[in-house]
Amino acid sequence: MEVVLNASGLRKLRSLLLIHLFAVNAAADCLTPPTTQHDTDLSEKSRMVDDYREGVQLQLECVSGYVRKSGTGNTTCNSGNWTKSDLICTRKDCGPPRDQPHMKFNLSQGTLFGDAVQVLCDKGYLLSGVTFKQCLSFGWFGKANCFAVVCKTPPEVANGLSSWSGPKNPKYGETVQYSCKEGYTLFGNSSITCDENGGYSPGPPECKAVVCKTPPEVANASSSWSGPKNPKYGETVQYSCKEGYTLFGNSSITCDENGGYSPGPPECKDVPGINTNKESVSVPVIISLTAVFLVIIIVIGFLYMLHQKKKGSYDTGEDLKPELLQFQNL
Ligand SMILES: *[C@@H]1O[C@H](CO)[C@@H](O)[C@H](O)[C@H]1NC(C)=O
Ligand SMILES: *[C@@H]1O[C@H](CO)[C@@H](O)[C@H](O)[C@H]1NC(C)=O
Ligand SMILES: *[C@@H]1O[C@H](CO)[C@@H](O)[C@H](O)[C@H]1NC(C)=O
Ligand SMILES: *[C@@H]1O[C@H](CO)[C@@H](O)[C@H](O)[C@H]1NC(C)=O
Ligand SMILES: *[C@@H]1O[C@H](CO)[C@@H](O)[C@H](O)[C@H]1NC(C)=O
Ligand SMILES: *[C@@H]1O[C@H](CO)[C@@H](O)[C@H](O)[C@H]1NC(C)=O
Repeated sequence: MEVVLNASGLRKLRSLLLIHLFAVNAAADCLTPPTTQHDTDLSEKSRMVDDYREGVQLQLECVSGYVRKSGTGNTTCNSGNWTKSDLICTRKDCGPPRDQPHMKFNLSQGTLFGDAVQVLCDKGYLLSGVTFKQCLSFGWFGKANCFAVVCKTPPEVANGLSSWSGPKNPKYGETVQYSCKEGYTLFGNSSITCDENGGYSPGPPECKAVVCKTPPEVANASSSWSGPKNPKYGETVQYSCKEGYTLFGNSSITCDENGGYSPGPPECKDVPGINTNKESVSVPVIISLTAVFLVIIIVIGFLYMLHQKKKGSYDTGEDLKPELLQFQNL
């Protein structure tokens, strides 16, 4: 088919084209999809649409990691331009990460999409895994754990026993108890605690075989100790006084953990009143006392006899009074 256009026909076509162009300008289709911000995008449904004619309505939505704060997200092709969407998006808030044993978070950097929080462990606990967790569209990203410090094997104490039996080494905060074998004394703290550095505090105790100094000598007493080895911790020494002496205090002293004795040693005193032991009075004293006593008796007896004899030589009864004589005759 052939189209022949004369001058008038060409003019007609031109005006038709102009009218058409005017009409296009008045109600033009949009040429491109709506522009989006960093936090907005076309909805999945709107992305399928390739018809951008006048009056077409498309839907904008917040991109992953952002949430709708306000607005509908509607945009319409109006005279070749898309209407401005009222959609306002904000960063998603992950909130504080879920609590985990002995774990803390430094939230000072925020908990919004893209933010990272520092993972911290309690004293005595070590971190394994990431040091930062990041807030992503699906939530916190990064695995971390806090595990207790494991202490080295508890120290062995010579001549001591510990409550630890293994095979697992004590963990932070756990204690180990020590006791000493028979005959040994514990010095220091009987329990040690696993600390945050993998050591123990305080230091382990010591078990020592305490040997006391030579037992004190008590004047006028003999002791049960004969040497040559000095008494050990807990052993006792008995004292007894020599004849004629009385014991004051406790007759036995015990070797204490400091190498001394408790209580203090007794005393043996010569107290005349208290002494009831006859044998203790010395023989010469008895002899001399007896001798003096006998001499006095003899002297008294002698004097008496002398007196009687003197009286007897003049005893004629003459010196008796008559009343007495009368009485005598009855
Ligand atoms: C926005 O668009 C949806 C459908 O795409 C429609 O149901 C809703 O009424 C629209 N809202 C406004 C305010 O135009
Ligand atoms: C469409 O947008 C362009 C560029 O921003 C502008 O020059 C034009 O005036 C707009 N048209 C209408 C009908 O708003
Ligand atoms: C938390 O992190 C900030 C810097 O990100 C730092 O200044 C602050 O000391 C940290 N706080 C703690 C308790 O670690
Ligand atoms: C022994 O150590 C523990 C901690 O391990 C402490 O609580 C206690 O006070 C200590 N005892 C003495 C007598 O020092
Ligand atoms: C009793 O002890 C005193 C003082 O040590 C001493 O002088 C005295 O000879 C002792 N007596 C006897 C009988 O050992
Ligand atoms: C004597 O000392 C011992 C310990 O050495 C003690 O058990 C006892 O009770 C004491 N006796 C007296 C009478 O003080």
